[in-house]
Amino acid sequence: MKTVVITGGNKGLGLAQTEKFLREGYRVYVVSRSRGELPEDPDVVFHPHDLTNWSDPRWLNEIHADAGRLDVLVNNAGMHLKKPVWEVSAEELENVLSLNVKAMFAACGRFVELPHEGGGAIVNISSMAGVMALPSAAAYVTAKTAVIGLTRAVAVDAAPYGIRCNAVCPGFIETEMTLAVLRGDPERRAKIEGRIPSGKWGTPEDVANAVFFVASDAAAYISGTTLPVDAGYSVGF
Ligand SMILES: NC(=O)c1ccc[n+]([C@@H]2O[C@H](COP(=O)([O-])OP(=O)(O)OC[C@H]3O[C@@H](n4cnc5c(N)ncnc54)[C@H](OP(=O)(O)O)[C@@H]3O)[C@@H](O)[C@H]2O)c1
Repeated sequence: MKTVVITGGNKGLGLAQTEKFLREGYRVYVVSRSRGELPEDPDVVFHPHDLTNWSDPRWLNEIHADAGRLDVLVNNAGMHLKKPVWEVSAEELENVLSLNVKAMFAACGRFVELPHEGGGAIVNISSMAGVMALPSAAAYVTAKTAVIGLTRAVAVDAAPYGIRCNAVCPGFIETEMTLAVLRGDPERRAKIEGRIPSGKWGTPEDVANAVFFVASDAAAYISGTTLPVDAGYSVGF
């Protein structure tokens, strides 16, 4: 049975990815601090871990030992910080970079080092904020842009080991995180909706489908790329 590890696969976009891989017949290991909304399912294994302890990616070895094989790693866990650059404290910047970049960096390295029969695939969740600046999100934009550079570097270094690495960049997708950011700002919300070319918010399933595609054999010759899932928001209006 193929196996996937999804960080933050217990809620929001990650939960839709967990459900998608389950439907596709994978065993899913979910890494997050809480169990969240994870379904009770014999093919879902919750592996509690705080990823901000990024310098110790042994959790991936533990999962590999339990699963016997790892085919796909989805680095989805992330946090937002809605502040312009001059308001971000050193501690806040460190928190955002620790989860959104350093934990992902360490997990990519450890995943490549594990034995992979028949290769493997890594999917890093960046954001539209990785390909364009969004207002009042300096630390987040910095982190999500770094994710795209990391993805390219891993794609090149891991290719000889049969491992592909791609980034997926969700646009405005309705989840707890986006709603929390926009709840206090109805004017901005209306502006965003008027700016999305299709006029529609994306769904977590839209993102999960893209993640599954780049992880699957259908994308066997695709590596190092950045796939926006934003209805064209980042390419103009
Ligand atoms: N929603 C959007 O519209 C959107 C758009 C672009 C990009 N994204 C990106 O998509 C990803 C998922 O976003 P989301 O909206 O689904 O966010 P979310 O609902 O806030 O979920 C964040 C996930 O990360 C986990 N997490 C947070 N801190 C963690 C830590 N220290 N250690 C381990 N796990 C941790 C959370 O689980 P626990 O709290 O249980 O640890 C949760 O599963 C993020 O990388 C985000 O930047 C989202």
